[in-house]
Amino acid sequence: MPKPAYHILVCTNQRPPGHPRGSCGENGAGQVLEKLSMGIEQKMLFDKVILSTSSCLGPCSMGPVVIVYPDGVWYNKVKPEDVDEILDSHIGNGQKVDRLEISDAIWG
Ligand code: FES
Repeated sequence: MPKPAYHILVCTNQRPPGHPRGSCGENGAGQVLEKLSMGIEQKMLFDKVILSTSSCLGPCSMGPVVIVYPDGVWYNKVKPEDVDEILDSHIGNGQKVDRLEISDAIWG
């Protein structure tokens, strides 16, 4: 197996309903993870990308949060219907999906 060019991290942290910080799990991260896993399989991207789950990454209210390395691109509010675009554009063609990217301004 060749070394994957990309690594996708999906925050799947789950907090109880009503928690003040919210969580990616509460906002549908599980469905996003499932769609990514199926998409990687359907698009035969096994040699190009590896998929992992993560605990909390910080910007919980912007979840589900998905990060693509080595580019260090952080995506927010990712929905299952966004997954094909991330896989086709970013993983397939090296073009990040600007409309989903978290602004650098959040890092203070
Ligand atoms: S719960 Fe996902 S970033 Fe905090």
